[in-house]
Amino acid sequence: MSGVVVVGTQWGDEGKGKITDFLAEKADVVVRFQGGNNAGHTIVFENKKFALHLIPSGIFRKETLNILGNGMVINPKALIEELEMLNNAGIKEINLAISDRAHLVLPYHTILDKLYEDLKEGKKVGTTNKGIGPAYSDKASRIGIRICDFVDLDVFYNKLNDNITYYNKIFKLFGKSELRVNEVFKEYKEYSIRIKTYVKDTGILLNKELDEGKKVLFEGAQGSLLCLDHGTYPYVTSSSPTAASVPLNTGISPMFIDEVIGVTKAYSTRVGEGYFATEFEDEIAKRIRDVGNEYGTTTGRPRRIGWIDTVVLRHSKRVSGITSLSIMLLDVLTNIDILKICVAYKLDGEIIDYIPASIKDVEKCIPIYIELPGWDEDITKTTKFSDLPLNTQRYLNKINELTGVDLGIFSVGPDRTQTIVLKEMYK
Ligand code: GDP
Ligand code: IMO
Ligand code: MG
Repeated sequence: MSGVVVVGTQWGDEGKGKITDFLAEKADVVVRFQGGNNAGHTIVFENKKFALHLIPSGIFRKETLNILGNGMVINPKALIEELEMLNNAGIKEINLAISDRAHLVLPYHTILDKLYEDLKEGKKVGTTNKGIGPAYSDKASRIGIRICDFVDLDVFYNKLNDNITYYNKIFKLFGKSELRVNEVFKEYKEYSIRIKTYVKDTGILLNKELDEGKKVLFEGAQGSLLCLDHGTYPYVTSSSPTAASVPLNTGISPMFIDEVIGVTKAYSTRVGEGYFATEFEDEIAKRIRDVGNEYGTTTGRPRRIGWIDTVVLRHSKRVSGITSLSIMLLDVLTNIDILKICVAYKLDGEIIDYIPASIKDVEKCIPIYIELPGWDEDITKTTKFSDLPLNTQRYLNKINELTGVDLGIFSVGPDRTQTIVLKEMYK
């Protein structure tokens, strides 16, 4: 077993960073395959807390090679800031490779992200404002600037000049200040020089590692319901956070994927706009937000709270081929009398077990719940499934039964040590 994928099964922030860091102990390579610094992955160990946005969560393991794959969009300024943050925190050994085929996020993308959102008036997506959508649009429109262009300063200058000239026309139209190519080039040239040493054909590198039987961990950002194809479009991100996108976005064969870990919260959260069937806002939601510290790692926005939704989990299982679940933040549900689990939706009087394509239908879905009794014992020091209170075990077993996916890991606190493994991912 050599290729293991970690994906979010909900709307992001499920705890993928924690699980990736935990599993990275046994991995030789960790690869981020999509998204950019819209992601915010939290890792907690030895009383230290880190938030990573671009760099894979295997970076704290000295022996592990960390790759930023071709499917990513990389903001070089944010990348340099992240490297400096790690350096200042004493993480000196940076074992990193950046794909020469990954695309750049440049200052005009961030301006466009905000502009497009403002133009949508009442129909905002609620993006992170990190320029992700515009950068992926440029990629699809074939005017994107890639890392291989970035490290060749003549090519970079010419492409930057073309794009800034093009986008300045739009900025002028909307009364925004125009960018000066020489200023942007002067700043970004420095970043280019600093990252050049990490730039590689990571597809070749990764294939070599896999051919040698090395253990590779693929770290997803966002979650299935934010997938450009399988999410609640248009309230999604601009890449595919599914296991299906791993081969395309890293340059490997799908045959290398042996295990797909679906990371899920013991409840649900969402940031940004878009319908969310099991959402509720009352004293219990407030409690979950406080205890779970449910505020965005990237934007600080309060996260919206809902009950766990097994229609969503089954959808994610289908689109990613999830082979085991990692259920996170179980401790946050302690001291709630009755826990609800969504088992199906009612749409126009009919019971359904899928996520409709049309957002109009999605918004009409009424969740159908079962209720389970909660628990009030402290579970944060639990180290074995059988030590959990019976009601916690019943809750986990019910999710397992309703999704048809075995529980591989459960988590009872943010720290690396508060992770209980039921199935070894690497033999
Ligand atoms: P990611 O984007 O999927 O990596 O998740 P985030 O880091 O954005 O959000 C997950 C949050 O939950 C972080 O603050 C984690 O430190 C925290 N966390 C992860 N697992 C647990 C857990 O089992 N219990 C608690 N209380 N917090 C957890
Ligand atoms: P991690 O990896 C949660 C959401 C935004 C918005 C939508 C589109 O930490 O789980 P974008 O900036 O990508 O164009 O925004 O997607 N979003 C996330 N929500 N966690 C994330 O990443 C997210 N990345 C994007 O809030 O609704
Ligand atoms: Mg996050």
